[in-house]
Amino acid sequence: MRHSKLIDRFCENRERILWCTGGIASLTVILLSCTTTTTRTILAPPSIPGATYVGSSECATCHEDITRDFPTATHARLKAPGENAKDAGCESCHGPGSLHVTSGGGAHTIVNPGKSPNACFQCHLEVRSRFELPYHHPVLEGKMGCSSCHNPHKGSAVKGGETSGMQSVVGGGTALLSQNETCFQCHTDKRGPFVFEHEALREGCVVCHSPHGSVNQRMLNERNQTLCLKCHFQQQTVPGQIFIADVDHSNFLQRGTCWSAGCHEEVHGSQVSGALRF
Ligand code: HEC
Ligand code: HEC
Ligand code: HEC
Ligand code: HEC
Ligand code: HEC
Ligand code: HEC
Ligand code: HEC
Repeated sequence: MRHSKLIDRFCENRERILWCTGGIASLTVILLSCTTTTTRTILAPPSIPGATYVGSSECATCHEDITRDFPTATHARLKAPGENAKDAGCESCHGPGSLHVTSGGGAHTIVNPGKSPNACFQCHLEVRSRFELPYHHPVLEGKMGCSSCHNPHKGSAVKGGETSGMQSVVGGGTALLSQNETCFQCHTDKRGPFVFEHEALREGCVVCHSPHGSVNQRMLNERNQTLCLKCHFQQQTVPGQIFIADVDHSNFLQRGTCWSAGCHEEVHGSQVSGALRF
């Protein structure tokens, strides 16, 4: 019991530990322990029967482009430096690569997380539970992948996200798609241009939506007017009346949500109504 408590503490800190730990062996042990004690579902790290770890520099021979850009990637930090550290960067997601290398890239000799998100869940287990919520992007269903919205090899892992200090030190962080651009690739109608924009969108889709998943329809962060009052809050002075944008909304709020009561149905922007009604 003591042992597993300790492991749990380790697991809470495991991202930090990844930076300071030396050696792929201890890294694998920690990951294995984390994945077996924090959940009933056992998630083995990506593995290829019979293969051993060879280190990222081996991959450079044949995958020159990816290796060249990789230092700019968020996950490049997984390449722990040092004598003992077996330069685990590529193989932390792709699994041990020895058979792949000796077979010159033979089929089924390496894990491709583009085909299954399990490789990501070894370290981001909490993200999986989000995708199990009632409203979610169909990643676990295999209709899209983590890499639809995340860069594994280059720049910020959150496409269009801010680049970290570390990345700019290493010299990466080229201007990427803004975060909304990622969403527009598939949700083209939200791009506009709109005659009447909703400025909320400039803060990003994620101010209202949880793209991994949510208990609320449309993956909304809140199911009612709370969603909108985050920004449209106004100090109330008249008892019994609720003012929003200087208009008394007391009666409106009983009819439904701000966007379903027939008042602001075009929350993403409108061509005809400044009040985002149609
Ligand atoms: C001797 C050359 C060679 C080396 C070294 C090599 N690869 Fe490959 N790799 C290939 C070839 C060839 C393919 C198949 C064609 C392609 O997709 O480019 C491939 C494909 C892949 C794929 C896609 C597999 C799939 O099923 O879609 C991944 C992932 C991959 N390599 C990762 C790695 C990693 C990680 C390393 C270092 C551990 C590495 N490779 C080292 C030659 C190599
Ligand atoms: C954060 C996890 C992660 C790391 C670290 C990582 N990859 Fe990948 N790799 C992926 C994902 C995800 C895909 C699938 C991309 C897709 O389907 O769009 C992929 C795909 C590939 C492919 C198949 C071709 C392609 O672009 O789809 C190759 C080759 C590859 N990776 C090589 C490497 C090499 C070499 C390194 C180290 C320099 C590396 N990867 C590091 C996650 C990772
Ligand atoms: C070996 C462990 C490991 C694996 C495997 C892994 N990650 Fe990560 N990931 C990390 C760590 C550690 C960080 C950095 C966390 C930090 O800086 O706070 C990170 C950061 C991220 C971030 C950025 C978080 C932020 O706030 O900027 C995203 C997005 C992400 N990972 C997605 C993925 C995806 C998608 C995959 C699979 C293709 C994957 N990761 C595989 C360990 C891992
Ligand atoms: C539909 C787009 C989309 C998909 C698919 C997606 N993500 Fe994300 N993810 C995002 C966005 C956007 C953010 C940034 C959230 C923010 O800034 O609040 C994010 C943030 C993250 C983070 C850092 C913050 C956090 O929530 O922990 C991690 C780690 C991550 N994603 C992992 C994954 C993994 C693993 C997968 C695949 C199982 C995945 N994501 C699939 C859009 C997506
Ligand atoms: C690779 C394509 C793709 C990308 C990129 C993408 N989505 Fe989606 N989105 C989908 C698919 C597919 C569905 C599911 C539609 C369904 O279930 O009928 C969906 C559903 C949604 C829904 C719920 C729609 C509904 O009718 O309930 C919202 C909200 C959403 N996405 C927002 C986002 C946001 C925000 C981003 C960017 C962080 C994003 N999407 C990026 C493909 C994508
Ligand atoms: C101010 C909050 C807010 C912002 C910001 C926002 N949305 Fe929405 N979104 C909503 C609400 C509310 C609904 C539900 C509308 C309904 O059910 O009639 C919704 C519904 C959706 C839907 C499903 C229904 C439809 O209209 O297709 C998609 C897809 C979607 N949003 C994508 C996005 C994308 C992509 C972004 C970023 C460009 C974004 N949203 C930004 C509030 C917002
Ligand atoms: C991230 C902050 C933010 C959120 C969340 C947000 N808004 Fe807005 N909204 C703004 C800003 C900024 C403006 C433009 C300045 C203003 O008029 O207050 C605006 C303007 C509007 C307008 C136009 C007002 C006018 O007549 O000029 C309407 C209507 C509106 N929002 C409705 C909504 C609804 C409905 C929601 C919830 C689905 C919502 N907003 C959520 C920031 C936000």
